[in-house]
Amino acid sequence: MFKKLVLSFVFVSWLFVVRVHCEDPYVFFKWHVTFGNLSLVGVPQQVILINGKFPGPTINCSTNENIVVNVFNEINEPILFTWNGIRQRKNSWQDGRPGVNCPIQPGTNYTYKFQVKDQIGSFFYYPTTSLHRAAGGYGAINVHSRPKIPVPFDWPAEEFNVLIADWYIKSHSALKKILDGGKRTLRRPAGIIINDKSGKGDGKDEPLFTMQPGLTYRFRFCNVGLKTSLNVRFQDHDMKLVEIEGSHTVQYDYDSLDIHLGQCLSVLVTADQEPKDYYLVVYTRFRKPSLNATATIRYASTPDGMVVRPSAELPPPPPNDPPLAIAWSINQFRSFKRNLTASAARPNPQGSYRYGSINITRTIRIASSAGTVNGKIRYALNGISHEDTETPLKLAEYFGVADKVFEYNSMKDKPPDNLNRIVVKPNVLNGTYRNFVEIIFENSEKSIQSYHLSGYTFFAVAIESGKWSPKNRKDYNMIDAVSRYSIQVYPGSWAAILTAFDNAGMWNLRAQTLERNYLGQQLYISVLSPEKSLRDEYNIPETFPLCGIVEDMPMPPPAYTMF
Ligand SMILES: *[C@@H]1O[C@H](CO)[C@@H](O)[C@H](O)[C@H]1NC(C)=O
Ligand SMILES: *[C@@H]1O[C@H](CO)[C@@H](O)[C@H](O)[C@H]1NC(C)=O
Ligand SMILES: *[C@@H]1O[C@H](CO)[C@@H](O)[C@H](O)[C@H]1NC(C)=O
Ligand SMILES: *[C@@H]1O[C@H](CO)[C@@H](O)[C@H](O)[C@H]1NC(C)=O
Ligand SMILES: *[C@@H]1O[C@H](CO)[C@@H](O)[C@H](O)[C@H]1NC(C)=O
Ligand SMILES: *[C@@H]1O[C@H](CO)[C@@H](O)[C@H](O)[C@H]1NC(C)=O
Ligand SMILES: *[C@@H]1O[C@H](CO)[C@@H](O)[C@H](O)[C@H]1NC(C)=O
Repeated sequence: MFKKLVLSFVFVSWLFVVRVHCEDPYVFFKWHVTFGNLSLVGVPQQVILINGKFPGPTINCSTNENIVVNVFNEINEPILFTWNGIRQRKNSWQDGRPGVNCPIQPGTNYTYKFQVKDQIGSFFYYPTTSLHRAAGGYGAINVHSRPKIPVPFDWPAEEFNVLIADWYIKSHSALKKILDGGKRTLRRPAGIIINDKSGKGDGKDEPLFTMQPGLTYRFRFCNVGLKTSLNVRFQDHDMKLVEIEGSHTVQYDYDSLDIHLGQCLSVLVTADQEPKDYYLVVYTRFRKPSLNATATIRYASTPDGMVVRPSAELPPPPPNDPPLAIAWSINQFRSFKRNLTASAARPNPQGSYRYGSINITRTIRIASSAGTVNGKIRYALNGISHEDTETPLKLAEYFGVADKVFEYNSMKDKPPDNLNRIVVKPNVLNGTYRNFVEIIFENSEKSIQSYHLSGYTFFAVAIESGKWSPKNRKDYNMIDAVSRYSIQVYPGSWAAILTAFDNAGMWNLRAQTLERNYLGQQLYISVLSPEKSLRDEYNIPETFPLCGIVEDMPMPPPAYTMF
């Protein structure tokens, strides 16, 4: 009798969830994922295409819409996709990380369903399996404000997605072989690509985008590369920064902008110069010699319909040698402010919008390091180098067999004395639901790091050189820091973020550098709803693929009820 009652409650609550979803429109996509052969930096090579396209199709939607992507895996390797920056409220099931999802097997399809709840801004998707990201398979996600919500700038004439990346000529499987060998890293990229272009500034490229004189365009940039921070600029045109990773910003003009791995931002550019062709130039940062690539932007009407090629003189990159380059870049980070009066979907509906007045309940200091384990290169956070498990962590937890797969809190909340002693094991932190946490990323290494946290946006309150101490808290930006989903940490520096663990799920915190991520510089944060309520987390989707030790286990009764 009691059991029946519980079941019917579960049924009712399921209806409840479905009804809530139905209020918002659905957007459907069908993706065919295949291998293709493209010549992106002058050499034909294997790439991953989606519906025959490189980059993949743009997901264009509005706040709160439900996105349904039916992915057909037509390559001969298992694959997964993640949605970088999409918070997946109550729904880490759709995050597409090996710690949550069993990969989509070759010849099969899987349908991702998620809602872009309370979000606006620029995001992207990419494959998270193997080193597939090195072959492409990525694309843009644009989330617009809902129709009646005012946007703090005039509606642009058009939007252009610009996915920029460092690029290697070796195939993803050859690169994987190098990393699996454990003797060396990926070294230098062969070039830079801007969508599918890698112009050399010789005036020979077809235009990437066309602008009408006098009109204003929104360019949404994302750095989808593997290893390199990039700097973007236009010949003879300023960029008005309007959005960073889901927050409207105070609108300052920049002549060039640094975009680190995994980061996205939007700028407005007005076609107010002499009508001709211009270059968009992308430079690598913090490495010598600097690489560059160009893409041509055309004005639609030039005098007499003639094409006037861009000036061959490229505007110079900002200072590229540390420490000047780092000081320049930190200054630019400090100039980014959130527009506090712009209306848009709020990042943290639970009230951490006034984040400056919330008490911090936990401080997690995380330091990166590189070393070798059994003679092979590994990367670690506080000395733990994460290793994916055959049974996804989330599934092990859900089926009640977590203890057979991983151990919680093997990483401590502060760096060990000896960062060079690295242990390889699954790295899972136990987060407490609704804790307001401070995470300090510490970088005593020589290379820049860029981190991404799934499931949350966070306030990026400080980036400073030197070593962090509690005294630094008085210099945090506690008023108008940008709420975003990734942050860079310069060599010999630290960065501080604040966020509320108000989204139950199993969430990935990762170095966005592909080789570091692949070789262990990542972890998962398990945040469980203490009330086991569907208001806090959705149940496992009905047709969720199972693998590892849970593959043949009976599905447990729904963990969450309506109460
Ligand atoms: C791509 O095509 C070129 C010639 O069109 C061929 O030489 C090369 O082997 C192909 N590469 C792959 C990875 O299929
Ligand atoms: C993207 O969505 C927005 C908002 O719905 C719409 O105004 C715009 O035309 C769409 N863009 C494309 C290229 O479909
Ligand atoms: C696979 O695609 C078919 C046809 O579109 C669809 O009916 C089915 O639900 C999909 N299967 C999964 C697991 O998503
Ligand atoms: C901030 O947003 C408001 C409201 O949309 C807008 O009027 C204002 O111009 C914006 N301020 C800046 C500095 O961008
Ligand atoms: C851009 O790269 C080319 C080599 O591809 C180099 O010759 C040129 O000097 C670079 N330009 C700038 C401004 O750095
Ligand atoms: C935050 O902490 C201070 C000092 O410990 C305390 O006085 C205050 O009541 C706390 N505020 C909240 C909202 O808990
Ligand atoms: C995780 O943290 C919660 C709250 O602090 C605690 O109740 C729970 O026992 C912890 N779980 C593990 C496995 O450490």
